Amino acid sequence: MSDRETWTTRLGFILASVGSAVGLGNIWRFPFQTATNGGAAFLFVYLVAVVVIGLPAILAEFVVGRRAEMSAIGAFDELGHPGWRAVGALGVFAGFWTLSYYSVVGGWVIRYIGQAAMGSYGSNPKVFFGNVSAGPEAVALHALFMLLAVGIVAFGIEGGIERATKVMVPAIVLILVGLVGYGASLAGAGEAYDYFLTPDFGVIVANAPSVIPAAVGQALFSLSLGFAVMITYASYIDGDESLPVDGLSIAVTNTAIGILAGLVVFPLLFTQGVGPDTSGPGAVFIALPTALSDFGAAGRVVGVAFFVVILIAALSSAISLLEVAVSYLVDTHGFERRRTTAVLGVLLFLLGIPSAWDTAWLSWFDSIAVNLLLPVAVLLLVLFVGWVLAPDAVDELRIGSGDSFDDLAPLWLWSLRTVVLLAVLVTVALSVTELTGAPV
Ligand code: PFF
Repeated sequence: MSDRETWTTRLGFILASVGSAVGLGNIWRFPFQTATNGGAAFLFVYLVAVVVIGLPAILAEFVVGRRAEMSAIGAFDELGHPGWRAVGALGVFAGFWTLSYYSVVGGWVIRYIGQAAMGSYGSNPKVFFGNVSAGPEAVALHALFMLLAVGIVAFGIEGGIERATKVMVPAIVLILVGLVGYGASLAGAGEAYDYFLTPDFGVIVANAPSVIPAAVGQALFSLSLGFAVMITYASYIDGDESLPVDGLSIAVTNTAIGILAGLVVFPLLFTQGVGPDTSGPGAVFIALPTALSDFGAAGRVVGVAFFVVILIAALSSAISLLEVAVSYLVDTHGFERRRTTAVLGVLLFLLGIPSAWDTAWLSWFDSIAVNLLLPVAVLLLVLFVGWVLAPDAVDELRIGSGDSFDDLAPLWLWSLRTVVLLAVLVTVALSVTELTGAPV
């Protein structure tokens, strides 16, 4: 496909991928996952999961995408394995599914920027969150968020996604670093750092069956794996750069930003005595406003900055999810990009209405996505790359990496076939058990 777009620079690809990885998962999901899974102990297992599972898995998606130069589903035809198209199809479906409720949370964030500017979250932030997170206003803000995502993706890879993420990712880092500085000046910072950064290994041992799958799931979700985003983004690479170097840069930046978010959230919570045990999706929207409303003018500035960061992060991830479906329809069916993006935006808006209407639906959509679709999709990808594509995958990974990688590439394949496969299998089994046991 000669007229297919590509990233203009290698940095453009890296920043777009970081933009995808850094999202609600880092700032909204990560703090409450940490809080419910034992604080620093969770952080430790998560870091191990990123290196041992996330990194090999992101390289698996990169290899498929760059070798095929084709979006999620067509990539498998292009590689000569049309029987495995289902892996791409599952990715496209799962991404679509996820974006429908991700956008609803994005809408809440827009709302909270306004609230933070006014410094008011109602007399009781919990009741307030209950009122604004579901219903007609949530539906309207979900529409607005979708519109923003459509507005970027409609302009394509270079003029839309690359251009936007080049500004968005540095903005996220700058604002977060400023906020970390503010967090460090708070009275509760010491206690918060201790909670967040000093692991109690007893907690890991005692709660391994729940902490490990939660950390693996968080690592996969946070690196935007399973939903064919990294296949799609890598398909737009024009060059022989070293994929392991790119993957490592993306994983390190993504993890660093997650940690920065924790260094902002926990000092605020500890200083106000709200405590870390803020389980559930309301964590950032209830506990944090509770803490912020006691900080006066500083609380407003910090609140606006914080919710703006979340919005940028959410949007730069949402566009990657939308791009997966758009690029499939454009590549495989020859549809026109702008119209396709707009139509998909409308369909996503409709699919998200139940989640915007009732948070029980949102939790259900989220748990199907993270506990079922994501680990199953990663499992299939690992089987495909580990066994079907295997020698070609190793060749592709070696490109641009110099001689030093001659030994590491087979090690990567071995890790996919053993550690990653095992971890994902266990995660699928445990997550599905949790799914069936969870109240909807
Ligand atoms: N990585 C994003 C986050 O942490 O919020 C979420 C995400 C985006 C997951 C895109 C999967 C994906 F394909």
